[in-house]
Amino acid sequence: MYAIGNDHSAIELKNIIKQHLESRGIEVKDFGTNSPESCNYAEYGEKVARAVASGECERGICICGTGVGISIAANKVNGIRACVCSEPFSAKLSKQHNDSNILCFGARVVGTELAKMIVDAWLDAEFEGGRHQKRIDYLKEIEKSNYPAAKKPASRCKKEK
Ligand code: RB5
Repeated sequence: MYAIGNDHSAIELKNIIKQHLESRGIEVKDFGTNSPESCNYAEYGEKVARAVASGECERGICICGTGVGISIAANKVNGIRACVCSEPFSAKLSKQHNDSNILCFGARVVGTELAKMIVDAWLDAEFEGGRHQKRIDYLKEIEKSNYPAAKKPASRCKKEK
């Protein structure tokens, strides 16, 4: 099961990517948003990230206008390595070298066909381990040195104007 999430700027592309994943035989859990109302990308990045970090979903895809905001949000969750990729080469390497568990891109940056190519490059790549594993281990050590967040953020999407 793969998690997918997006803000209001990426509903159309999210639905296309969701269909694309399903056409490859991948089950998808959609964390929204499915409303065109302006919302906070961070809420959806967090939902996808928590689903991946908990093991509920294997990996995830996050889409906002640029892919930047939603990736920053996802990377706040321990265990997440979310990478913004606007072309297939980075997407492939983000899996092979960085073991990226969330792929992000921008609906205002990439077109539909390029987005599918980015997704395919990422899905088809495998983490190479070896010398890259100790770098991932170091990232985990950085996380361990952080204080746990006290509570969830107060502002939620529906309250926004
Ligand atoms: C929303 O207007 C936009 O800021 C958001 O989709 C994203 O690009 C943020 O990084």
